[in-house]
Amino acid sequence: MRAVFRKISKRYTTGVQYLTNQYHIDVAARTDSERKKRPLRHDVINLLLQSLHKNELTYLEIGVKNPSKNFNKVNADNKYSVDPGVEYKENPVDFKMTSDEFFRKLKSGQIFNKEISFDVIFIDGLHLASQADKDIENALEVINDEGFIVLHDCNPPTEWHAREEHYYKLSPAKNFWNGTTWKAFCKYRLNKNLNSACINTDWGIGIITKKKIFNYLHEDKNPFYEFKIFSENKKIILNLIDMEKTCKKKWWGKN
Ligand SMILES: C[S@@+](CC[C@H](N)C(=O)[O-])C[C@H]1O[C@@H](n2cnc3c(N)ncnc32)[C@H](O)[C@@H]1O
Repeated sequence: MRAVFRKISKRYTTGVQYLTNQYHIDVAARTDSERKKRPLRHDVINLLLQSLHKNELTYLEIGVKNPSKNFNKVNADNKYSVDPGVEYKENPVDFKMTSDEFFRKLKSGQIFNKEISFDVIFIDGLHLASQADKDIENALEVINDEGFIVLHDCNPPTEWHAREEHYYKLSPAKNFWNGTTWKAFCKYRLNKNLNSACINTDWGIGIITKKKIFNYLHEDKNPFYEFKIFSENKKIILNLIDMEKTCKKKWWGKN
């Protein structure tokens, strides 16, 4: 009986420690603050599409989950969606496959004709750096010269949001997960043939474009992708910009 009581008491104490720990409370506050930020990803995507002033706009979303959250809110004439259906059983997408398979079929002409190109490609599939890196590399081959590659979750507020394991939900970030996409975005920030910035909203909306409207990172400040260095130098490393301020500068206007 005593042993059972001791076990219950230990569990209770551990639970209380978890819930009242200042570090956990601070991380939860960072989660809340990020969740309140506006505009959302579809607003940014729609703005980018609009900025192209084209008669016919073509949009591709990699990783869709529930389309009512983003895909359905995007305004484009031609919209295509890719998702293997890992997280959402219904998976109502055009191409039920991984992004790797989609791009392989696209390049070999098995889907679309070989001339297809996109105005905006939204990459929001598997949130691991190695996969996001491949997705960006593939997207660069089929994005229009004036177009935009948009990458979700580039600005994780804490290292717990940037954990590798999606399914571990007892960390201070609970079920909120940005993964390691930020590392792939940082890699492309160093590419002098591309221009990039990250909008400080909705967990960080990375934008990569061939147009010379942003800058690129001239010096690798974080070769080992340490989270602390990243966190302390985000403004420069991500080219973290505020949506409202940049709206005024009209950075998405014609080149
Ligand atoms: C974060 S959700 C997408 C959310 C959606 N884009 C939005 O804005 O609401 C990630 C999705 O990526 C999908 N996914 C996982 N691995 C993938 C892969 N290798 N290729 C493409 N999509 C993948 C999952 O099935 C999941 O539905």
